[in-house]
Amino acid sequence: MKIIIKPNYEEMSKKCAAIFLQEIQKKKNIVLGMPAGNTPLGVYEKLVKTYKKGKIDFSKVITFNLDEYIGLPKKDKRSFTCYMFNNFFNYINIKKSNIHIPDGNAKDFKRHCIEYEKQIKKSMGIDLMLLGIGPNGHIGFNEPGSSFNSRTRVVELSDEIIKRDKKVFNGKVPKFVITMGVRTIMESRKIILIASGRKKAQIIKRAIEGHITSEVPASFLRLHPDVTYILDKEAGSKL
Ligand code: GLP
Repeated sequence: MKIIIKPNYEEMSKKCAAIFLQEIQKKKNIVLGMPAGNTPLGVYEKLVKTYKKGKIDFSKVITFNLDEYIGLPKKDKRSFTCYMFNNFFNYINIKKSNIHIPDGNAKDFKRHCIEYEKQIKKSMGIDLMLLGIGPNGHIGFNEPGSSFNSRTRVVELSDEIIKRDKKVFNGKVPKFVITMGVRTIMESRKIILIASGRKKAQIIKRAIEGHITSEVPASFLRLHPDVTYILDKEAGSKL
């Protein structure tokens, strides 16, 4: 495992975007795993800027998002689908047919999850997966207790995350979400996890230095051969 600590959020985002640029230049039809959340916003912003300068081509890039809330209307701004288009996809030359995001309004969730896994396989697997980390150590929405062998599925959010998201959802936080599983994530060829701020310091310490346990799903990443943590100084302050 590689740990890179940068002085601040800006530098953390810059470093991560630089690795993305390098990997996309190496493989034009790269398959990317994408997170939502506050942490990756700087990375998306930098990748859009690089695209606008003509230094990056997304026309062959394929993406798979990690997760989505269940039951939000398609155009609800709080959905991860809207987040991805409003912060990234609308500003680059990615083909719509190459974008995959779990459907929070699928008719048959079981079938949809199986189909999502099949699409990842059909694309020859994820080359580069970007992750954030939840305050409880979740990756995607693999909440504490998620098994190592889990795949794309519907899960119930923990009370801690419902509490975290209360403000954003005016108290009415969706109870259920779809998320790629731990195993789905672990099958990616390269994984980068980014974290910023003092609030993440304790969970980063547990993920990197604590026991490998389903109670801290991010700790499973230590079993992967190519993981890079890019942290800002505050997130790395307890290591
Ligand atoms: C979210 C998502 C994760 C994300 C995490 C951290 O709810 N399910 O994919 O990485 O929680 O979010 P943030 O970056 O806003 O701290």
